[in-house]
Amino acid sequence: MNDQATPITVAEYEALAGERMAATPAAWDYYAGGAGDELSLADSRTAWNRLRLRPRVMVDISRRDLSTAAFGVPLAHPIIVAPTAAHNLAHADAERLTAAGATAAGALFTLSTISSAPMEEIAVAAPGAPRWFQLYAPDDRDACRALVERAAAAGYGALVLTVDLPYPGNRERDRRNDFAVDLGVHLPADQPVDPETGVVIVPTMDWDELAWLRSICTIPLVVKGILRADDAARAVEAGCDGVWISNHGGRQLDTAIAPVDALPEIAAAVGDRALLVVDGGVRRGIDVLKGLALGADLVAVGRPALWGLAVDGAAGVQRILEILRDELSLAMALAGCRSIGEITRDLVARP
Ligand SMILES: Cc1cc2nc3c(=O)[nH]c(=O)nc-3n(C[C@H](O)[C@H](O)[C@H](O)COP(=O)(O)O)c2cc1C
Repeated sequence: MNDQATPITVAEYEALAGERMAATPAAWDYYAGGAGDELSLADSRTAWNRLRLRPRVMVDISRRDLSTAAFGVPLAHPIIVAPTAAHNLAHADAERLTAAGATAAGALFTLSTISSAPMEEIAVAAPGAPRWFQLYAPDDRDACRALVERAAAAGYGALVLTVDLPYPGNRERDRRNDFAVDLGVHLPADQPVDPETGVVIVPTMDWDELAWLRSICTIPLVVKGILRADDAARAVEAGCDGVWISNHGGRQLDTAIAPVDALPEIAAAVGDRALLVVDGGVRRGIDVLKGLALGADLVAVGRPALWGLAVDGAAGVQRILEILRDELSLAMALAGCRSIGEITRDLVARP
């Protein structure tokens, strides 16, 4: 890519990725789409734009420290990569490159269960880098336990249990395209199928089974797909170390609340008892600042990493994350924050 064409915003990467994937429109739709009328998808983006900031002035912000930590592991900044399935649709080298790009940008990478490369290979592609493994719990408990044990053995620092996919959402783009994603290398081949629709079901656990998972999981456990304070509190009481506020990128229950709109009540309910992650429609460093101000410890991006991967492999992923990091740093400067700890609730205007 020549300098002139180098995108300077995440939105420009999205447009370029669309061009790169023009030959595979069904794959592009799978990445881009949401459920139903895609109202949650759109709202997750505009919810950030509705929030207004109250900057502090006359602070010496000539040096900013973006560093933070998750479960005792130091991180260069609080922007992390959310788990997304099937990176092979964007690039033949798939998750290996996404992980490498995230690592080069100092970002924690979360590997989806629905990966085209085994988790051990990703660990080798980015040795020593902070990474988590996202679990779609297989029906079979032995298979489930095996995945959990493999993740811990391969150095994944936390297990992220996704709980908002008891059944796939109504992805109308995929239905029109007759597109079904390959379930990748981690799930057993005999996952149950809905007899009416033929859709592969990846069941999530109920609260009783969560207690079992907690008992066999030796690494921190994060529950992903929470949108209510009562569910968040229950997860913490069940021994979860982290709560990931998400509506699955608008791909599950259409008109579900935007994650950032659920964040304040969940932050109030959870307090310091668990690590809080928020995702959904994060496209600017200013969004990250708002998420941190409203109580998140980490802010995650899903689709943007896929766009970077489609445009320029690992370098594209790295660049996307660096754009967000640099925008966050500038937003901190202009809001009068020298460190992540100084990004406090009062920075966001109350409606
Ligand atoms: C193409 C695609 C695949 C996804 N696959 C998974 C997955 O395998 N596991 C999971 O927990 N979440 C999955 N998600 C949801 C993301 O982890 C994340 O919650 C969401 O993408 C955040 O919104 P954003 O894409 O607007 O940043 C997926 C999202 C997309 C767009």
